[in-house]
Amino acid sequence: MSETAKKDKLVSSAELDEQKQFAIKVNSVVSAMYDEKPKACVITYGCQQNVADSEKLKGMLELMGYDFTDDRFEAKLIIFNTCAVREHAEDRVFGNVGSLKSYKRKNPDAVLALCGCMMQQQHIADKIKKSYPFVDLVFGTHVVHRFPQLLYKTLTGKKRVFEIPDTDGVIAEGIPVKRDADSKAWLPIMYGCNNFCSYCIVPYVRGRERSREKAEIIKEFKELVCQGYKEITLLGQNVNSYGKDLAPSVSFASLLRELNDLDGDFRIRFMTSHPKDCTKELIETMASCDKVAQHLHLPFQSGSDRVLKAMNRKYTRSQYMELINYARELMGDELSVTSDVIVGFPGETYEDFKQTLSLVEEVKATSLFTFIFSPRKGTPAAEMDDPVSREEKSKWFKELTDLQERISAEQMALHKGKTYKCFVYGKGKLADNYVAARNDGNLIIEFEGDESLIGTFQNIKVIEPLTFVMRGEIVKEKN
Ligand code: SAM
Ligand code: SF4
Ligand code: F3S
Repeated sequence: MSETAKKDKLVSSAELDEQKQFAIKVNSVVSAMYDEKPKACVITYGCQQNVADSEKLKGMLELMGYDFTDDRFEAKLIIFNTCAVREHAEDRVFGNVGSLKSYKRKNPDAVLALCGCMMQQQHIADKIKKSYPFVDLVFGTHVVHRFPQLLYKTLTGKKRVFEIPDTDGVIAEGIPVKRDADSKAWLPIMYGCNNFCSYCIVPYVRGRERSREKAEIIKEFKELVCQGYKEITLLGQNVNSYGKDLAPSVSFASLLRELNDLDGDFRIRFMTSHPKDCTKELIETMASCDKVAQHLHLPFQSGSDRVLKAMNRKYTRSQYMELINYARELMGDELSVTSDVIVGFPGETYEDFKQTLSLVEEVKATSLFTFIFSPRKGTPAAEMDDPVSREEKSKWFKELTDLQERISAEQMALHKGKTYKCFVYGKGKLADNYVAARNDGNLIIEFEGDESLIGTFQNIKVIEPLTFVMRGEIVKEKN
């Protein structure tokens, strides 16, 4: 990438300073406007990228003088950070926004804002403009860093504000972040996607792939470790293509190794990897880096080569299995594999679907994220012939989830008696005096323990594998 292209992507420090000035201005506007410190309610849909964006929105809101609440009916600012990946996600947003109409009528000084992937689609923004006149502010994914300015305009102007520039996307460094958890952190290392899988809306709403400079990532990572974060997840829609656009290019594996070699007691996770960019070097790095979790989330989507081609996934079933087999060869039972699967892609036959079932048998994933195909306006798959009925697809879906339930149970049973170094992340659900922990492979193990253990690593022996969690006990030494 040329220096000019690099500069074009990076939001300038002058622009970011300008936003800080707007944050100060919003702060004085809201302190004059409300009797007490106003509360903001940030509601997030979708993937971890959106969670990370919401943490930035909250960081900026804190600067602008807002407190936070989970109760939207006591908020002076309600913001929905939306997802467009499936129709169901969009329907939920419309339903929830609609239910705020009377709240807005009774509280005209409250601001209702919508942002995120769904809003980056022009037809959605148009629908909000026309049919939801009580929504005050709508902005897209490429202007999150300009939130202070947009909110200032909304609070002080008479018109509703819509800001949805259609660009390839930018990188804004140094935005304040208010993290939801104090021991687990999300760290976006790249944004956007270049893959254009034929069913997927993400490349249209998140722009092109752009990697953060390695030095910026390492700086933020070190800060997180210093602040006591123990589980740090590197994020990207296609995280293992990190660094291809940098000059000189950097491989994701080399970034992982560098982070692994930093001082401190922490665990590194990453998601989501794309099979076409999953190199042997990456698998070897996972196997040899002690702080990198032995968990590979590698979506295969379908077991039929014909469907994979129509999906524009750029790998075959056997190439996928080669990666899984190599990873298992190097990491053995310690490795946990998870995946995403789509059922009912346009033109998929029952024969194709049976190949997905047989791949599920072969992969033996710990768990699967399963979805019925949802047509997304503007994507090639939405225009394809789709003769199989919804009822039929639901039957296939049930067949798939039944199969995976059996495989998950078999996989869980293999852990009985084994001891794992686990990160204790919160209170347990099995009993009041239980806490919950995750092992390297992202498996949940609950055990009797004091809440003071939350935020620490402990060695836990699995006593009883249940359906989705395992019951364990704390041990002094890992065997
Ligand atoms: N970038 C990741 C990848 O390629 O594996 C996944 C990103 S997407 C947000 C998460 C999952 O949603 C995908 O892996 C896919 O299984 C599912 N998905 C995306 N578009 C979909 C659609 N139109 N209908 C149903 N599922 C979809
Ligand atoms: Fe969507 Fe494919 Fe990109 Fe994943 S890799 S975000 S499924 S286009
Ligand atoms: Fe949804 Fe956008 Fe993530 S479409 S899944 S929130 S990138």
